[in-house]
Amino acid sequence: STALSKGGRIAPQVKAGGLADMATFLVDELSREVDVHVALPDFRRLAPIDGRKTSHRLHLCKGSEFTRRGRVYADERASELRAALAFQREIVHNVIPRVRPDIIHCNDWMTALVPAAARMMGIPSLFSLHGLRNEWCTLAEVEDRGLDLEPCWQNLFFSHYPKEYYERNRGTSLNFLATAVHASDYVNTVSEGFLKELVAGQVGTPEISGVLRQKLESGRASGILNAPCASYSPVTDPALPVTYDAAGHRAGKRENKLALQQATGLELDPEAPVFFWPSRLDPHQKGCQILAEILYRVVSDYWGLGAQFVFVADGPFYRHFRHIAEFHGLEHRIAVTPFKEGLSRLGYAGSDFCLMPSSFEPCGLAQMIALRYGSLPIVHRTGGLADTVRHIHGTSHVGNGFVFEHHDTKGLRWAIDEAIRFFLLPEHQRARDVSRVMRENTFSSGPTVQKYLEIYQTLCPRAGDVR
Ligand code: GLC
Repeated sequence: STALSKGGRIAPQVKAGGLADMATFLVDELSREVDVHVALPDFRRLAPIDGRKTSHRLHLCKGSEFTRRGRVYADERASELRAALAFQREIVHNVIPRVRPDIIHCNDWMTALVPAAARMMGIPSLFSLHGLRNEWCTLAEVEDRGLDLEPCWQNLFFSHYPKEYYERNRGTSLNFLATAVHASDYVNTVSEGFLKELVAGQVGTPEISGVLRQKLESGRASGILNAPCASYSPVTDPALPVTYDAAGHRAGKRENKLALQQATGLELDPEAPVFFWPSRLDPHQKGCQILAEILYRVVSDYWGLGAQFVFVADGPFYRHFRHIAEFHGLEHRIAVTPFKEGLSRLGYAGSDFCLMPSSFEPCGLAQMIALRYGSLPIVHRTGGLADTVRHIHGTSHVGNGFVFEHHDTKGLRWAIDEAIRFFLLPEHQRARDVSRVMRENTFSSGPTVQKYLEIYQTLCPRAGDVR
């Protein structure tokens, strides 16, 4: 979405991942300081919250495919592209002229053409990079699939496309993200680590790395770590049957574990180590395929301990995980259920460990939420995961999770074994570490919001006084 807003909460009404969480949280927080408008595709499910109080600030863009299907992500890439183009046309032709914003803050590929259009209208823009999805679009795709990109939109792409890439890709493809990074006045990624990896070319493409390096060198790029919103707290979360804090986590987590097992059809066993999977089952980023390969083995090897896995998630590998559970008759040890906000919160509270073996991760919110709930994250050392999780070595009493280096089944298996090693420590020792981790978890929202406000102020000194 393009942030331009105030009022109407975006998630959980329309939510397909961390970007929705982040957009909701930022809009809520920023609205206290500046006048914000939000442009969103008109998802059907949003209709009920297009309330009287908020409608003047929430701009629902009609005419896109999203609207007809009432869905966030389409199955077909072509429909996604078509929907994103319709959305952006509406922003540029209708929303911006109506709102006349001081600054435009765009998020991800579905708004990647807006900074170029904003530049032509003389409005400063900030582009936030949350991921690498749909970085490219080939011209063949535009033509064959009838994407209907009028010449003026093609010009928009090419006039803000760095010269060297223009020469190389001329006439064949468009790089949404490179165009956005190039055309915007400031760019941020959602962690420092991800920015470094992109600039170094460890993730992404040479195009995105090149344009980002230029931005960074001219002091117009930085990493701003996301923060989970304050509603994620085991002390106050209404989704939990029993709330708890760091001091009382033992009893609290025990009750939540039983409730989670009950809700997902797992064996009722308060002593079992429970592993929770919180994110989309997407093999391109989230690493679920390496877990799928070793899952049966892990469950068998830790059979005596009663090890359990809970997936509260959607995505392409959903059926695959269900299949693994059904094929081996392990539904009482491996639960796979569609994403639901309340159940997901129970997942954090009722689990001991939270799995995030992403191949790359711009920031990741789940590991920070898990830390708040005393579920220790198991992560690959990449992007925002590397910035927020440190390995617990032996009984050294530092670290807050389990971190593996090599993104393969061996790496993940090693980290799971490390987690079990921790689980088998004497209970008082383990409890001391978990409460330490819950207490020292410092990912609060204040600094995040402040950094965005500072960028707004730099882009438009007047923006801070709008209220
Ligand atoms: C995307 C990224 C994730 C990030 C979120 C919010 O979902 O994959 O790492 O936390 O956006 O910025």
